Amino acid sequence: MKFFIDTADIAEIKDLASTGMVDGVTTNPSLAAASGKSFLDLIAEICDVVDGPVSAEVTGTDFDTMMKEAAVLRKIAPNVTIKVPLIPDGLKCCKALSDDGVMVNVTLCFSATQALLAAKAGATFISPFVGRLDDIGTDGMSLIDDICDIYANYDFDTEVLVASIRHPMHILEAARMGAHVATMPPKTLRQLYKHPLTDKGLQSFMDDWAKSGQTILGG
Ligand code: E4P
Repeated sequence: MKFFIDTADIAEIKDLASTGMVDGVTTNPSLAAASGKSFLDLIAEICDVVDGPVSAEVTGTDFDTMMKEAAVLRKIAPNVTIKVPLIPDGLKCCKALSDDGVMVNVTLCFSATQALLAAKAGATFISPFVGRLDDIGTDGMSLIDDICDIYANYDFDTEVLVASIRHPMHILEAARMGAHVATMPPKTLRQLYKHPLTDKGLQSFMDDWAKSGQTILGG
Protein backbone atom coordinates (compact mmCIF):
# COMPACT_ATOMS: atom_id res chain seq x y z
CA MET A 1 0.00 0.00 0.00
CA LYS A 2 1.30 3.43 -0.91
CA PHE A 3 1.20 6.27 1.62
CA PHE A 4 0.62 9.83 0.43
CA ILE A 5 0.51 12.78 2.80
CA ASP A 6 -2.32 15.24 2.52
CA THR A 7 -0.73 18.58 3.31
CA ALA A 8 0.78 21.75 1.88
CA ASP A 9 3.13 22.19 4.82
CA ILE A 10 6.67 21.97 3.40
CA ALA A 11 8.35 21.45 6.77
CA GLU A 12 6.07 18.47 7.48
CA ILE A 13 6.64 17.06 3.97
CA LYS A 14 10.44 17.29 4.38
CA ASP A 15 10.35 15.75 7.82
CA LEU A 16 8.12 12.82 6.82
CA ALA A 17 9.85 12.26 3.46
CA SER A 18 13.05 11.57 5.42
CA THR A 19 11.33 8.55 7.05
CA GLY A 20 11.10 6.83 3.66
CA MET A 21 7.35 6.26 4.17
CA VAL A 22 6.05 8.96 1.82
CA ASP A 23 5.20 7.78 -1.70
CA GLY A 24 3.43 10.96 -2.80
CA VAL A 25 1.61 14.12 -1.71
CA THR A 26 -1.93 15.37 -2.19
CA THR A 27 -2.96 19.00 -1.86
CA ASN A 28 -6.29 20.72 -2.36
CA PRO A 29 -7.26 24.39 -2.80
CA SER A 30 -8.09 24.77 0.91
CA LEU A 31 -4.69 23.40 2.02
CA ALA A 32 -2.87 25.46 -0.63
CA ALA A 33 -4.67 28.68 0.36
CA ALA A 34 -3.89 28.07 4.04
CA SER A 35 -0.15 27.68 3.23
CA GLY A 36 -0.03 31.38 2.27
CA LYS A 37 2.40 30.58 -0.58
CA SER A 38 2.05 31.14 -4.32
CA PHE A 39 0.40 27.93 -5.58
CA LEU A 40 2.84 27.31 -8.42
CA ASP A 41 5.86 27.86 -6.13
CA LEU A 42 4.32 25.57 -3.53
CA ILE A 43 3.84 22.70 -5.98
CA ALA A 44 7.38 23.18 -7.35
CA GLU A 45 8.77 23.08 -3.82
CA ILE A 46 6.88 19.87 -2.98
CA CYS A 47 8.05 18.24 -6.23
CA ASP A 48 11.65 19.04 -5.26
CA VAL A 49 11.22 17.04 -2.06
CA VAL A 50 9.07 14.10 -3.20
CA ASP A 51 9.66 12.04 -6.36
CA GLY A 52 6.26 10.33 -6.33
CA PRO A 53 2.96 11.78 -7.57
CA VAL A 54 2.15 15.29 -6.27
CA SER A 55 -1.51 16.20 -6.77
CA ALA A 56 -2.20 19.81 -7.78
CA GLU A 57 -5.88 20.67 -8.16
CA VAL A 58 -7.36 22.85 -10.89
CA THR A 59 -9.70 25.57 -9.66
CA GLY A 60 -11.75 26.20 -12.80
CA THR A 61 -15.03 24.35 -13.15
CA ASP A 62 -15.43 24.38 -16.93
CA PHE A 63 -13.50 22.22 -19.40
CA ASP A 64 -11.54 25.02 -21.14
CA THR A 65 -10.37 26.68 -17.93
CA MET A 66 -9.42 23.36 -16.33
CA MET A 67 -7.42 22.33 -19.41
CA LYS A 68 -5.60 25.70 -19.45
CA GLU A 69 -4.79 25.40 -15.75
CA ALA A 70 -3.66 21.81 -16.21
CA ALA A 71 -1.28 22.95 -18.97
CA VAL A 72 0.36 25.37 -16.52
CA LEU A 73 0.52 22.88 -13.65
CA ARG A 74 1.90 19.96 -15.65
CA LYS A 75 4.87 22.09 -16.75
CA ILE A 76 6.05 22.41 -13.14
CA ALA A 77 7.51 18.88 -12.87
CA PRO A 78 6.98 15.44 -14.39
CA ASN A 79 5.51 14.07 -11.15
CA VAL A 80 2.68 16.62 -11.02
CA THR A 81 -0.67 14.82 -11.00
CA ILE A 82 -3.56 16.95 -12.17
CA LYS A 83 -6.43 16.81 -9.71
CA VAL A 84 -9.89 17.42 -11.14
CA PRO A 85 -13.29 17.44 -9.44
CA LEU A 86 -15.79 14.68 -10.13
CA ILE A 87 -18.14 16.75 -12.30
CA PRO A 88 -18.91 16.20 -16.00
CA ASP A 89 -16.32 18.73 -17.24
CA GLY A 90 -13.78 17.37 -14.75
CA LEU A 91 -14.13 13.88 -16.20
CA LYS A 92 -13.95 15.26 -19.74
CA CYS A 93 -10.69 16.88 -18.71
CA CYS A 94 -9.56 13.60 -17.10
CA LYS A 95 -10.12 11.73 -20.36
CA ALA A 96 -8.27 14.34 -22.45
CA LEU A 97 -5.31 14.51 -20.05
CA SER A 98 -4.98 10.77 -19.52
CA ASP A 99 -5.13 10.21 -23.29
CA ASP A 100 -2.19 12.62 -23.42
CA GLY A 101 -0.20 10.56 -20.87
CA VAL A 102 -0.78 12.86 -17.89
CA MET A 103 -1.49 11.41 -14.41
CA VAL A 104 -4.94 12.47 -13.18
CA ASN A 105 -6.45 12.27 -9.70
CA VAL A 106 -10.25 12.55 -9.70
CA THR A 107 -11.31 14.06 -6.39
CA LEU A 108 -14.50 14.56 -4.37
CA CYS A 109 -15.82 11.05 -5.03
CA PHE A 110 -18.71 10.03 -2.79
CA SER A 111 -20.31 7.10 -4.64
CA ALA A 112 -19.24 3.90 -6.36
CA THR A 113 -20.96 4.89 -9.58
CA GLN A 114 -18.96 8.14 -9.63
CA ALA A 115 -15.83 6.00 -9.22
CA LEU A 116 -16.92 3.86 -12.17
CA LEU A 117 -17.20 6.99 -14.33
CA ALA A 118 -13.72 8.14 -13.27
CA ALA A 119 -12.20 4.76 -14.20
CA LYS A 120 -13.91 4.89 -17.60
CA ALA A 121 -12.42 8.39 -18.05
CA GLY A 122 -8.94 6.89 -17.55
CA ALA A 123 -8.19 8.33 -14.10
CA THR A 124 -4.85 7.33 -12.60
CA PHE A 125 -6.34 7.74 -9.11
CA ILE A 126 -9.86 7.99 -7.73
CA SER A 127 -10.17 9.81 -4.40
CA PRO A 128 -13.17 8.69 -2.33
CA PHE A 129 -13.53 10.87 0.80
CA VAL A 130 -14.21 8.46 3.68
CA GLY A 131 -14.06 10.93 6.59
CA ARG A 132 -16.57 13.32 5.05
CA LEU A 133 -18.98 10.40 4.51
CA ASP A 134 -18.53 9.32 8.15
CA ASP A 135 -19.19 12.94 9.16
CA ILE A 136 -22.71 12.77 7.71
CA GLY A 137 -23.49 9.46 9.42
CA THR A 138 -22.76 7.08 6.53
CA ASP A 139 -20.08 4.39 6.34
CA GLY A 140 -17.16 5.79 4.35
CA MET A 141 -15.26 2.51 4.33
CA SER A 142 -18.08 0.57 2.69
CA LEU A 143 -17.60 2.87 -0.33
CA ILE A 144 -13.96 1.75 -0.54
CA ASP A 145 -15.05 -1.89 -0.41
CA ASP A 146 -17.53 -1.33 -3.25
CA ILE A 147 -15.01 0.51 -5.44
CA CYS A 148 -12.29 -2.12 -4.92
CA ASP A 149 -14.77 -4.87 -5.90
CA ILE A 150 -16.04 -3.02 -8.98
CA TYR A 151 -12.56 -2.11 -10.24
CA ALA A 152 -11.41 -5.73 -9.80
CA ASN A 153 -14.45 -6.99 -11.77
CA TYR A 154 -13.32 -5.04 -14.82
CA ASP A 155 -9.54 -4.95 -14.31
CA PHE A 156 -9.48 -1.15 -14.32
CA ASP A 157 -6.00 0.33 -13.89
CA THR A 158 -7.31 3.25 -11.82
CA GLU A 159 -5.87 3.16 -8.29
CA VAL A 160 -8.12 3.61 -5.28
CA LEU A 161 -6.68 6.51 -3.27
CA VAL A 162 -8.48 6.61 0.06
CA ALA A 163 -8.84 10.27 1.06
CA SER A 164 -10.26 12.33 3.91
CA ILE A 165 -8.67 9.89 6.34
CA ARG A 166 -9.19 10.80 9.98
CA HIS A 167 -7.51 8.01 11.97
CA PRO A 168 -5.39 4.81 11.73
CA MET A 169 -8.47 2.52 11.61
CA HIS A 170 -9.35 4.00 8.22
CA ILE A 171 -5.89 2.94 6.98
CA LEU A 172 -6.13 -0.54 8.51
CA GLU A 173 -9.51 -1.18 6.88
CA ALA A 174 -8.38 0.27 3.55
CA ALA A 175 -5.33 -2.02 3.57
CA ARG A 176 -7.53 -5.03 4.35
CA MET A 177 -9.72 -4.14 1.38
CA GLY A 178 -6.70 -3.86 -0.90
CA ALA A 179 -6.96 -0.11 -1.64
CA HIS A 180 -3.81 0.98 -3.49
CA VAL A 181 -3.11 4.27 -1.71
CA ALA A 182 -4.05 6.09 1.48
CA THR A 183 -3.55 9.83 1.72
CA MET A 184 -3.44 11.04 5.29
CA PRO A 185 -2.65 14.11 7.36
CA PRO A 186 0.92 14.10 8.79
CA LYS A 187 -0.48 13.53 12.29
CA THR A 188 -2.16 10.28 11.21
CA LEU A 189 1.03 8.95 9.62
CA ARG A 190 2.85 9.61 12.90
CA GLN A 191 0.07 7.85 14.83
CA LEU A 192 0.74 4.65 12.86
CA TYR A 193 4.06 4.20 14.68
CA LYS A 194 2.57 4.42 18.12
CA HIS A 195 1.67 1.64 20.53
CA PRO A 196 1.82 2.00 24.32
CA LEU A 197 3.37 -1.47 24.68
CA THR A 198 6.20 -0.44 22.32
CA ASP A 199 6.96 2.59 24.55
CA LYS A 200 6.63 0.55 27.75
CA GLY A 201 8.75 -2.33 26.42
CA LEU A 202 11.46 0.01 25.18
CA GLN A 203 11.57 1.82 28.52
CA SER A 204 12.04 -1.43 30.43
CA PHE A 205 14.76 -2.67 28.01
CA MET A 206 16.61 0.65 28.43
CA ASP A 207 16.30 0.59 32.23
CA ASP A 208 17.67 -2.98 32.43
CA TRP A 209 20.46 -2.15 29.98
CA ALA A 210 21.49 0.93 31.98
CA LYS A 211 21.90 -1.27 35.06
CA SER A 212 24.43 -3.42 33.20
CA GLY A 213 26.78 -0.43 32.90
CA GLN A 214 27.74 -1.46 29.36
CA THR A 215 27.69 0.54 26.12
CA ILE A 216 27.81 -0.99 22.65
CA LEU A 217 29.84 1.86 21.20
CA GLY A 218 32.19 2.03 24.15
CA GLY A 219 33.50 -1.52 23.47
C1 E4P B 1 -7.59 14.50 -0.66
O1 E4P B 1 -7.02 14.60 -1.70
C2 E4P B 1 -8.17 15.63 0.08
O2 E4P B 1 -7.25 16.70 -0.01
C3 E4P B 1 -8.36 15.34 1.53
O3 E4P B 1 -8.12 14.01 1.86
C4 E4P B 1 -9.58 15.94 2.12
O4 E4P B 1 -9.62 15.64 3.49
P1 E4P B 1 -10.59 16.37 4.51
O5 E4P B 1 -11.96 15.81 4.36
O6 E4P B 1 -10.00 16.05 5.85
O7 E4P B 1 -10.54 17.85 4.18
